[in-house]
Amino acid sequence: MKSKVLFFLTFFAFATQGILAQSMSDAALDSLMAKMSVEEKVGQMTQIDLGVIAEGGICALKQPQQINLAKLREAITKYKIGSILNVGCGSGTISRADWSSLLQTIHKENKKLSRLQIPILYGIDAIHGANYTKGATLFPQQIGQAATWNPLLVEKANAVSAYETRATGIPWNFSPVLDLGRQPLWSRFFETYGEDVCLASAMAHAAIRGLQGDSVSSKYKVAACMKHFLGYSFSLSGKDRTPVWLPEREMRAYFLPTFQEAIATGAKTVMINSGDINGTPVHANYDILTTLLRDELKFEGVAVTDWEDIYKLENLHRVAANKKDAVKMAIMAGVDMSMVPNDFQFCDLLVQLVKEGAIPESRLDLSVRRILRLKRDLGLFSETMFANKDYPNFGSATFANLSYQTASESITLLKNKERILPLRDTKEKLLVCGPAAHSLNLLNGAWTHTWQGVDTTTNTPGKKTILQALQQQWGSAIVYEKGASLDALQEEEQLLGKAKTVDKIVVCLGELPCTEVPGNIKSLDLPEAQLQLVKQLAATGKPIILVCCFNRPRILTPIIPLVAAIVYAYLPGDEGGMAIADCLLGKVNPSGKLPFTYPAASNDLVHYDRKRTEDLDIDFSMNAYQPSFDFGFGLSYTQFTYTPIIISADTLTKGSKILVNCKVKNTGAVKGAEVVQLYYNDLVASITPSVKKLTAFQKIVLAPNEEQRVQFELDAAHFSFINKNNERVTEPGWIELLIDQQKKLIYVE
Ligand code: GLC
Repeated sequence: MKSKVLFFLTFFAFATQGILAQSMSDAALDSLMAKMSVEEKVGQMTQIDLGVIAEGGICALKQPQQINLAKLREAITKYKIGSILNVGCGSGTISRADWSSLLQTIHKENKKLSRLQIPILYGIDAIHGANYTKGATLFPQQIGQAATWNPLLVEKANAVSAYETRATGIPWNFSPVLDLGRQPLWSRFFETYGEDVCLASAMAHAAIRGLQGDSVSSKYKVAACMKHFLGYSFSLSGKDRTPVWLPEREMRAYFLPTFQEAIATGAKTVMINSGDINGTPVHANYDILTTLLRDELKFEGVAVTDWEDIYKLENLHRVAANKKDAVKMAIMAGVDMSMVPNDFQFCDLLVQLVKEGAIPESRLDLSVRRILRLKRDLGLFSETMFANKDYPNFGSATFANLSYQTASESITLLKNKERILPLRDTKEKLLVCGPAAHSLNLLNGAWTHTWQGVDTTTNTPGKKTILQALQQQWGSAIVYEKGASLDALQEEEQLLGKAKTVDKIVVCLGELPCTEVPGNIKSLDLPEAQLQLVKQLAATGKPIILVCCFNRPRILTPIIPLVAAIVYAYLPGDEGGMAIADCLLGKVNPSGKLPFTYPAASNDLVHYDRKRTEDLDIDFSMNAYQPSFDFGFGLSYTQFTYTPIIISADTLTKGSKILVNCKVKNTGAVKGAEVVQLYYNDLVASITPSVKKLTAFQKIVLAPNEEQRVQFELDAAHFSFINKNNERVTEPGWIELLIDQQKKLIYVE
């Protein structure tokens, strides 16, 4: 009897503790904070890399990563650290079993040693799936997800990322990247949702919804981290982490809206831009981190620095004479948590600053309160991890199919001369060649098992390259010859010899997986070897189908006339090989649309939403907008027609809405998806209006001969812009609506 009573009492104690922990009110958290010492508060604001508490040296860890108990115990008892991130500088992907062991050890030691039992918050880059967990589902990179123009699909993809990140034992994902892709040279262009505010904002909403759902305490949801606030993607040089010149009006017009959308969707955390805007590093910029982010946007979540960016205020940006000044500058600007991440100087310096009175303890309280609330909302006070059995779908075929669907819907058909695609006659012999033909790494890009994604030993077994997928689907009539690495021709004679024996040639071009500063390039031109590969094969007279797997739009101009078809696949992820093969063979009807303007030359970078320029009436107008392919462009294996636009009223009166309709018909012989894009042309405005701007879109699927009415409900906000006073306004005037080739004038009051 006694044992039963004991069991019940124990169960009751745990149950109530769990319920209490889950329901820790703000007041309860405040009373917890009131018990905290300065050191404990500083510890909560400290995030270290796994490498600091693992066996081996910083950036030279013992593999697989193992906890060094002495280092962990020092981090907890002496520095009271509140957060740890990633896999250890220089290390890579970890199995779920090893993750479980690492995280259990961390949480167990923290429970044993932490005076106030505040859980440690683990964060990770799971930016196209749980890319640092072995066997996880890897999706197309964000640029490809944007090319689907399917926010619901992107939400589902992010929900899988959240599921598998939590299955790893981690509740915080440093994703999505919400920097706008206005500079295609940028090494992280593939991590963006492209160049357009409307499309990227829709994807931002979808990503946050997918990652966070209705409650981040769910064992299947994580805290998202909108990054990198703000203006990180548009440096003058196009190179990562180089100066940005950004007038406030342009900042508010192009680079703020995705973050506003994410905040409105409930994003829990934000990561700060490493760079400097107009000479002030963002990590030291009170106007951005407090006046804008907190006072104006009312963001209440946690602001975490990017890698080592407080120290960089001294050792790179030189706005601080020493680390102590750098810590003071960053904390007073509005930083909540420092991704230090490789030592504890930040802790010592911040404690000193508070004890000297240079930083009021009340300033720490602002950050600690946000951090404690985040941990409470994530449910960490009651459950830091869940059992493997809770995640039966981890790495499942179901999730792989969703990745395949996302890759399939991202693929963008840019050319299809004489409808050479889809390939129909399976008796034909194909030569498959090129650097991306037989490489999973070139399908995934960076942030794949390792930071730069170039390690070929850590790929998930069973995932197919383009070649393997074609061999599986097309049969024996496939001849393979690499023909060129990313930057050097190989076995030319052998290649050309094989080219003579086949009917058609599939050339797969690619780009070295890379990100951040290592991914900086001097030109968008393709390496000469890859151009030569296409030119030599074109000389054989055999029809060429070009497949492109690029981080960013590399210049295709010299070879576009030489090929019969161009299939642009972005970085399609682990299922990309199958999706590309199925597209070539017609199992997939491509429906992707470019989320960026495809430049015809490396220094001819103009966006579709360009301003009018003086096109001198001469043979070649050097101001002309002449991209290789337009934003929103993508062919299908079928055709669609649009009826004239019908509007519910000629005038959009104040406070009202207007319905805009048109009918779309599939006039071809196969089912296809079409992205109906609604643009507008503001005829006159107080700020030079764009030639056209996307304001709404819908993706529909139509069977052959099927016709569907597509309707948009618009209000004044759909035609708003940032005026010269940096206010978002909609001005009265004539607006021309554009859908496909159809136009309609309305008057906005
Ligand atoms: C990197 C990246 C950031 C990433 C962080 C942690 O420097 O800029 O996107 O989340 O460090 O890996």
